[in-house]
Amino acid sequence: MKTQGAITTIDRQEFFRLVGVSIGAIVLQQCLSGCNTSGSDPQPAQTPSDFSINVNNANFTVLRNAGGFVRSNGLIIARTNQGGFIAVSQACTHEGTLVNFVSSNNTFLCPNHGSVFSSAGEVQNGPATKPLTVYKTTFDASTGDVRVFI
Ligand code: FES
Repeated sequence: MKTQGAITTIDRQEFFRLVGVSIGAIVLQQCLSGCNTSGSDPQPAQTPSDFSINVNNANFTVLRNAGGFVRSNGLIIARTNQGGFIAVSQACTHEGTLVNFVSSNNTFLCPNHGSVFSSAGEVQNGPATKPLTVYKTTFDASTGDVRVFI
């Protein structure tokens, strides 16, 4: 870099070095922000093998009612019309879209391409070919705790 009076000049090699560093910084920033896992990412890196939620917690009160379902720790946890609980992996095994609970027949429907999974996680309708992972559940009515575990 040379200064001549009030004018500062840089040679071509330095110019390209500075531009290269700037572009590299921008690309790195974009890449890192694209890898951000906070916010609405529904899939945690790993679902815990044993956790509890409580139906008295404001985030889960929908589970007090038959047909309600919530998402937690990468799973969809549903209350059946018979009063039981079902917990399965929430990502469709076809392309990862979040499945929804269909309380009328205790199945899970993928809104993307229509795959249907039974309450046991098995594929009833494709294009998915692999089952959802099923977790066991217990419910303590005295505390409102729903334990979800493998
Ligand atoms: S992503 Fe679920 S059926 Fe295609």
